[in-house]
Amino acid sequence: MSELSVRAVPPDAAEALRALRQRALREEPHAFLSSEAEGERRDLAEWRENLAGKWAGPEQWVLGAYRDAELVGMAGCFRGERDKERHKATVWGMYVAPEARGLGLGRALLSEAVARMRELEGVLQVQLSVTAGNEAALALYRRLGFRDYGREPRAMQVGEEFLDELYLVLPLDA
Ligand SMILES: CC(C)(COP(=O)(O)OP(=O)(O)OC[C@H]1O[C@@H](n2cnc3c(N)ncnc32)[C@H](O)[C@@H]1OP(=O)(O)O)[C@@H](O)C(=O)NCCC(=O)NCCS
Repeated sequence: MSELSVRAVPPDAAEALRALRQRALREEPHAFLSSEAEGERRDLAEWRENLAGKWAGPEQWVLGAYRDAELVGMAGCFRGERDKERHKATVWGMYVAPEARGLGLGRALLSEAVARMRELEGVLQVQLSVTAGNEAALALYRRLGFRDYGREPRAMQVGEEFLDELYLVLPLDA
């Protein structure tokens, strides 16, 4: 039986994280606004620098989902940096590799991101967005209490296809 865990990704795991993110962008082009080519342009040094710097907390992190020692999922989270956005946190880049789905790692990643944001005084809501039609992600977000507040038509173009984006929020003070 493998052991599942969620923890912040350390700088020395930059290569594994970059590879996981590239796999996500390549295999799930409808799920992320970043294209594979854009991901490719962010080199390993930048990932390392971010993990050791701005993503090392206390108000931003990249969480990793691990099956035993293997990185199989990720979620980024940051608190608003501008004076008037300090009460908001955003989750980005939620991804669990297909072979590790359905084990509760997506839920564990998002729960941990929300729990960490709850610890920060003054953060009142966590926000995220999802491509319309991504039922697995939507079910997960709604199950954890996120509610829809908006829809952007034609938010993204993938090849010839246009996709809407749904916006969701979880109030922490409700
Ligand atoms: C969305 C995603 C992160 C879910 O990860 P996961 O580890 O499989 O999710 P979990 O096993 O923790 O499931 C949690 C909940 O999500 C929902 N869910 C997960 N997969 C589902 C599916 N295929 N269909 C319907 N609901 C699903 C269920 O409500 C589940 O709750 P339950 O366990 O009480 O039934 C994963 O499918 C993924 O990476 N998809 C591709 C990338 C993506 O879409 N990212 C989101 C970008 S906004």
